[in-house]
Amino acid sequence: QASSFYQNKHVLVTAGPTQEIVDPVRFFTNHSSGKMGYALAQMAESLGAKVTLVSGPTDLSQPPGVNVLPVQSAEDMYNTVLEHFDEADIVIKAAAVADYRPKQQYNHKMKKKEGSLVIEMERTRDILQALGEKKKEQYLVGFAAETNQAIEYGKDKLTRKNLDAIVINDVSQEGTGFSGDTNEVTFLSKRGIEKSLPLSSKTQIAQQVLTLIETDIKGGKS
Ligand code: PMT
Repeated sequence: QASSFYQNKHVLVTAGPTQEIVDPVRFFTNHSSGKMGYALAQMAESLGAKVTLVSGPTDLSQPPGVNVLPVQSAEDMYNTVLEHFDEADIVIKAAAVADYRPKQQYNHKMKKKEGSLVIEMERTRDILQALGEKKKEQYLVGFAAETNQAIEYGKDKLTRKNLDAIVINDVSQEGTGFSGDTNEVTFLSKRGIEKSLPLSSKTQIAQQVLTLIETDIKGGKS
């Protein structure tokens, strides 16, 4: 039976990679395709939520009924997410945001020179951290992509960043995390839900994550 829980909710989702520019033809990025975040946005929309999707560059088509706000860099994503944070009830950060960007951006294509090249990188701002500090009524969900000690690192992020829940992918496992159509995750909430969701399509994972969020907000255990 369909629940009406999401019908009066505004869900803000982030998806995809960021691109950190070096010069007009080069950037640093990662393997995020955006599929996990788009699946969450589409599912939340089909459950009746008003959905804003802040998306890094992807090849995916816009999910119908979703307000898509395209961004390129971690800094763009930071600004766009913070601009829309106050109007959101639930925020889900499935994007793979760069932790570092080139300290200097060149206006012209860098020329090849003798010897090796050093590009100095500086830290980007942590969006999730900023939201954790700023949040009032919002239910804040982070993602964690880890290759080892996934649950421990995930638990640490949950408390350190003041999140309500975290979805942990162990990206060292076959069929999980970046790029593919499937994922396998563990959902952990501050209130005490700990649930592993076995390997399935990102659409099914999205549906289960949204159900767990609903259960957690309603105060139930799963
Ligand atoms: O896009 P797909 O190909 O479908 O792949 C899905 C995914 C693997 C990218 C997704 O499921 C996922 O795990 N996203 C988070 C990946 C990540 O960057 O994890 P992290 O452990 O580095 O970051 C933890 C959290 O902090 C994330 O919610 C991230 O959005 C957030 N973050 C990170 C850095 C930063 N500067 N600001 C942030 O808000």
